[in-house]
Amino acid sequence: MASPTIESILHENRLFAPPDGFAQTASIKSLEEYHALAERAAADPAAFWAELAQQELHWFQPWHTVLDWQPPFAQWFVGGKINISYNCLDRHLNTWRRNKAALIWEGEPGDSRTLTYAQLHREVCQMANVLKGMGVQKGDRVGIYMPMVPEAAIAMLACARIGAAHTVIFGGFSAEALKDRLNDAEAKVVITADGGFRKDKVIPLKAAVDQALEGGVPSVSGVLVVQRTKSEVSMVEGRDHWWHDLQATASAHCPAEEMDAEDLLFILYTSGTTGKPKGVVHTTGGYNLYTHMTFKWAFDIKDNDVYWCTADVGWITGHSYIVYGPLSNGATTVMYEGVPRPSNPGCFWDVIEKYGVTIFYTAPTAIRAFIKMGDELPKARDLSSLRLLGTVGEPINPEAWMWYHQVVGGERCPIIDTWWQTETGGFMITPLPGATPTKPGSATMPFPGIVADVVDLDGAPVPPGEGGYLVVKHPWPSMMRTVYGDDARYRRTYWEHIAPVNGQHLYFAGDGARKDADGYFWVMGRVDDVINVSGHRLGTMEVESALVSHPAVAEAAVVGRKDEVKGEDIYAFVILEGQYSASDELKQELKQHVVKEIGAIARPGEIKFADALPKTRSGKIIRRFLRNLASGEAIAGDASTMEDQSVLDQLRRG
Ligand code: WTA
Repeated sequence: MASPTIESILHENRLFAPPDGFAQTASIKSLEEYHALAERAAADPAAFWAELAQQELHWFQPWHTVLDWQPPFAQWFVGGKINISYNCLDRHLNTWRRNKAALIWEGEPGDSRTLTYAQLHREVCQMANVLKGMGVQKGDRVGIYMPMVPEAAIAMLACARIGAAHTVIFGGFSAEALKDRLNDAEAKVVITADGGFRKDKVIPLKAAVDQALEGGVPSVSGVLVVQRTKSEVSMVEGRDHWWHDLQATASAHCPAEEMDAEDLLFILYTSGTTGKPKGVVHTTGGYNLYTHMTFKWAFDIKDNDVYWCTADVGWITGHSYIVYGPLSNGATTVMYEGVPRPSNPGCFWDVIEKYGVTIFYTAPTAIRAFIKMGDELPKARDLSSLRLLGTVGEPINPEAWMWYHQVVGGERCPIIDTWWQTETGGFMITPLPGATPTKPGSATMPFPGIVADVVDLDGAPVPPGEGGYLVVKHPWPSMMRTVYGDDARYRRTYWEHIAPVNGQHLYFAGDGARKDADGYFWVMGRVDDVINVSGHRLGTMEVESALVSHPAVAEAAVVGRKDEVKGEDIYAFVILEGQYSASDELKQELKQHVVKEIGAIARPGEIKFADALPKTRSGKIIRRFLRNLASGEAIAGDASTMEDQSVLDQLRRG
C-alpha cells in the first residue's frame, strides 16, 4: 500500500486550530464537545439518532423501532412515515425561508436562474404531476441523464415526492453504459435534455438516450426532454415529450406521498471489482437524517451562507450535498453547469465572486489542476466571501491542501477533508470546523455516531501508525441497504472481506488507512481493484471488459498509474489477436472504443501492447508487477512464483 506520497503524508505534522471566531458560532465548538458527543453517540447510537431524527425532520408518523439490524441488513426508523421532498421543500414554506434562494444556478454560457423555496416547490409539484401523467407510480424507477441544470434537481425531488426511485446516470457516461444501467434498474421513464454544455461543446444527451433505447431497454415507455442547447433532436411520437410542454399545463398541487422510512429513495450505480457496476440502494428516512446532520454540522451551515459544491448530480456528492442535505437544511445551494475549460479556466473564481459564495466544496484533482494554472487566476477575483472550504473524492496531498488553505482560503478558512463513499450516503470521517484541529492530508476523525477503525484481515485493530483496512463497526442511518437485486453481492463485497469479531460485523469500505497517535485517520486509497481517476471511481475489470469487447483484443489488464493532476490514470496492457498488429492508430481506436463502451472518464491514458502478461503458475495476473511497470518503477517483490520470467523482460523492453 505504501507509495512515496503516502510516506510524505505520514510525516505531515502541521496542525491548524479552528479560527477563534469560527468556533464561537459553530454548532460544535470544541474538541471536548466533539469527543463528548461522539462518546455519547457510540454508547447508544440508536438513541442518539432517534433524538436527532425527532428534532430535525418532519415525520408524518413516528417509527416504532429505531434500528432493526440483521447483519448485514439494516432498517432504520421502522414504521416511520416520511417524505424527503417534504423535508427539503414544504416545511420551509411556512417560514421566512419561503422566499429565500433555494437554488442558484449558473449555466456554462453565462445564463443564470435563481429559484426560491416557493418556486422550487411549485416546479417540483408540477413535475411530480407530469411523471404521474406518464404513468410513473410509487415504487417505479426513473432514469435521469441530465446536464447540470435546475431541472436535474427538480426531477430528483419530483420522483421522491411521488415515491418513485430515481437513478441518476452521469451525463458523461456513454449510450452503452446508460443502457446497462437503465436495464438493471428497469426504469420506466427517462428524463434527459436535448444536450448539455460542457467545455465549450454541446454533449448530445438525447441522441445517447435514443441509442441506448434502440439497443433494447424494454422497461422504458416514456422519455422527457428538457430543452437546454436547442440542438436538433428527433422526438419519437408517443414516447418522447418536451419537459416545458408538459410542465406548462401541469397542476402545481401535489401533496408529498407518505413513504415508509425504508422505501427505496434512489439507486446509484458505482464501480466495483467486477465488470458489472453495482446499483447502490439508498432508502428514505435514514438517508434524509444523515445527509441533513452531516451537512448541518460539518458545513456549519448558517442562514446567510451561500454554499457551492462543484460535483455533478450524477455522483453521490451531488445527491447528498448539492440537493438533499442543503435543501433539507433550508440552505442556499449553488449549481454550476460548467467546469474549468480553455475559454475560461478561472470560471470557479468567477462564480464565487459573483454570488458571494461562503462555503466551497470541491475535489483534490481540481485543486491540483488549479495549482498548475498558477495563482493569478484566483488572485484576480475577490474570494473574501469564503469562510469554509471542503474536499472530497480522494486523498488530498498536503501540498494541495496548503495551496487551498493559502491561496483560496486566504489562511482564514478551515478545510474539511470529508471521507465517504457512494455506499455510505454521507460523510463518515470529517473535521467539524469549529471543533477539530486539522492536519493537511488527514480526514481527521469520525462523525459523531460513526464507529470507524483500522484493522487487519482478522478484524483486530492495528497499532497507531500502521496500515490496515478502514472499517465501520456499527450500522449508520444512511448506509447502503443492498446492491439492487443482488443481496449476495452486497454481503460478499462489503461484509465478508473481514471476518466478524465476537459477532460484530465490520463494514469494509475498500480503502486502506492509518490512524495516528492522536486518533486521526489518514486514508490512503483503494486496496481493491478500483482506481480513482480525477475522483471518479472505475473498476479495472470494467475497463478490461470494454477492451476485450473489441475484436482486436485477446486479453487486457488494467492498472492505475500515479498522475500528478488526476491522482491516478488508467494504464492498459493489451495482448492482440494474432491477425492484428500493434500501431498508434490501433491504440487510438482502442481508447475510443473504451469511451464508447463506458464514457470519456474511462479513456485509458496509456495503452501498451504486450506479447504476454506476468502470471502466477496458476494463471493469475500479477497486477503488482504491472503497476510497477506502468509507473516505471523497479519490479518490487518476488518474481519466482511467475510462470515465465522472460515476460517481464519483454514488457520492460517493449
Ligand atoms: C475515495 C465519493 C481519501 C475513497 C464521495 C473512497 C477519499 C472512494 C475521500 C469513494 C477523502 C473519497 N480522502 N479518499 N476525503 N473521499 N475518497 O463512491 O477511495 O465516488 O472509497 O464517493 O473515494 O468514491 P465514491
